[in-house]
Amino acid sequence: MKIIQTVLQMQKHVFKPKGTVGFVPTMGYFHEGHLSLMRQSRKENRYTVVSIFVNPIQFGPLEDLAQYPRDLERDLRLARKAGVDVVFVPSVQEMYPAGLSLTMIDVRGVSAGLCGASRPDHFSGVATVVAKLLNSVRPTAMYLGQKDAQQVIVIRKMVEDLNFPITVITCPIVREPDGLAMSSRNKYLSTSERVQAAALFRALLLARDLVAKGESDAMKIISKIKKLILDETSARIEYITCVSRADLKPVRRIEGEVLVALAVRFSSARLIDNMVVKFSVDEKVSL
Ligand code: PAJ
Repeated sequence: MKIIQTVLQMQKHVFKPKGTVGFVPTMGYFHEGHLSLMRQSRKENRYTVVSIFVNPIQFGPLEDLAQYPRDLERDLRLARKAGVDVVFVPSVQEMYPAGLSLTMIDVRGVSAGLCGASRPDHFSGVATVVAKLLNSVRPTAMYLGQKDAQQVIVIRKMVEDLNFPITVITCPIVREPDGLAMSSRNKYLSTSERVQAAALFRALLLARDLVAKGESDAMKIISKIKKLILDETSARIEYITCVSRADLKPVRRIEGEVLVALAVRFSSARLIDNMVVKFSVDEKVSL
């Protein structure tokens, strides 16, 4: 496994023999979610490149940039074990040589709601760094986790709008045995919060069941999820919403596939989760 630290070296790297290059951008501190993306890329490509870069410009001034968990030695070991070909580990100085970047990518519309409402500059920080990483690695495909559903949609739009010649692949959410979506930030939870946090998945399952049983009123679904989370956790709810998968616009009635997404705050951890739920009228079922 090759470790590359500069943009120039990454751009000059020649993959021999020629073949498809799958790319997994990360901020490190690997868990099974990250590793599942690497495995899928390995399965579908000749080469897999993983980047590890805690991107300062996607963190707000009061967010956890300084505390963000890091363990490069362990990450490199896990990447090697997962069969990764190249790990790209640029420094902050390498990515933003003259202090903070002045050229920013702003994917309008889809960046505004959901997490964008409380993290106004977050998605332009994400889009900008992903564009820089794509120009460094020049992959044929990029692998992203459904865990960060809004991030997937923002990046897909950027790739489409700016004609990046790559395919964006979305991979399923990897969960702990009790249903909590894996995240580097789960380590901020206290022991009792960690137990409570499984309620987020139960809330999404409740939404799925309600829809499967024929509930199509988004407000009713949202208020039931809200009640479950408030009853079972000490978390403060930031948002719970039912939105269109294509453009993240809120929907009032569930028709076809809808994304149910939520964000909550425990004492020191902000957690997000989501699920695609499907409403289908079975025309074969008669009264
Ligand atoms: P990070 O949070 O490290 O996540 C890297 C990738 O792993 C993202 O595509 C994310 O959606 C995916 N991922 C995280 N938890 C997952 C889980 N439980 N199941 C499946 N996939 C999961 O997302 C970022 O980094 C950054 O914003 C980045 C795109 C690297 C830009 O800086």
